[in-house]
Amino acid sequence: MSANKESDGGWKSFVWNSEKREFLGRTGSSWLKIFLFYVIFYGCLAGIFIGTIQALLLTLSNYKPTYQDRVAPPGLSHTPRSVKSEIAYTKSNEESYRKYTDAMSEFLKTYDLDIQTDGQNFEDCGASPQTYKERGGLEDSELGQRKACRFDRKLLGVCSGLDDPHYGFNEGKPCLIVKLNRIVNFKPRAPTNNQSLPEVLHAKSQPNLIPIYCKNKRDEDESKIGEIKYYGMGEGFPLQYYPYYGRLLHAQYLQPLVAIQFTNLTLDQELRIECKVYGANIDYSEKDRYQGRFDVKFTIAS
Ligand SMILES: *[C@@H]1O[C@H](CO)[C@@H](O)[C@H](O)[C@H]1NC(C)=O
Ligand SMILES: *[C@@H]1O[C@H](CO)[C@@H](O)[C@H](O)[C@H]1NC(C)=O
Repeated sequence: MSANKESDGGWKSFVWNSEKREFLGRTGSSWLKIFLFYVIFYGCLAGIFIGTIQALLLTLSNYKPTYQDRVAPPGLSHTPRSVKSEIAYTKSNEESYRKYTDAMSEFLKTYDLDIQTDGQNFEDCGASPQTYKERGGLEDSELGQRKACRFDRKLLGVCSGLDDPHYGFNEGKPCLIVKLNRIVNFKPRAPTNNQSLPEVLHAKSQPNLIPIYCKNKRDEDESKIGEIKYYGMGEGFPLQYYPYYGRLLHAQYLQPLVAIQFTNLTLDQELRIECKVYGANIDYSEKDRYQGRFDVKFTIAS
């Protein structure tokens, strides 16, 4: 018992030793020195940390990416987009495809003409494909905001959503809206020869247009895909919408769109379709399935 009492007293005097005026074995001035040491130590660490980040930020431009790993080729994306690129619905049941048509309406809202009226930020760039519209260099900051070319939803024809809120889904003729992803300062180049193009595109080939073409992914689907219609300026991506100057300098920028309508898909079967864009500086990658192309699966139940 007495041993217990002793050790108890030892513990107490360790916490506060009134004889030597020590708290946890140290005097007040010793604690103060330790505290000061850590304040200065962490202060210096924070200083180095902030200093290096500031130095790095000084070397970056607000307007131009320092390192661009996504120079070319751009991704091709479509709306509606769904899990596993699978679009499955029942033709007679609006509920079953509403999520697709809602996504399209939501996306196309950003292309309403009444938000493109402002002449400060928008201009007309012609009704047919033309060459690049240069608006100065990225570093010419005195030029300020660059104008964006207008893009009228009407160009998407029956897929514009202006006349048909179902985008053809109710008739088993669904539309997809396709865009090339934005890449600052990238200029897609039109195909330079016919060899790389599918035969159907030869006649349509134009000097200022990136064409798009979709076909069956599997041979056995060849006869089941039916006619595919393309809408948009020149049925492709016209070059006057490039280059893009980035979010700061080109806040109102609109990508040109293409709508694709599958007019005679065979019902009650899974059909796999691949769409590709063609350009001299656009190629495809095994690793990135959205680089210059995409796959989509349709299953439409009657
Ligand atoms: C491709 O072929 C079409 C017709 O066959 C021709 O009009 C067009 O100029 C050709 N395009 C190129 C880039 O050679
Ligand atoms: C639609 O495709 C079927 C075969 O799947 C064909 O018999 C029919 O003629 C096509 N209709 C049109 C309008 O092309």
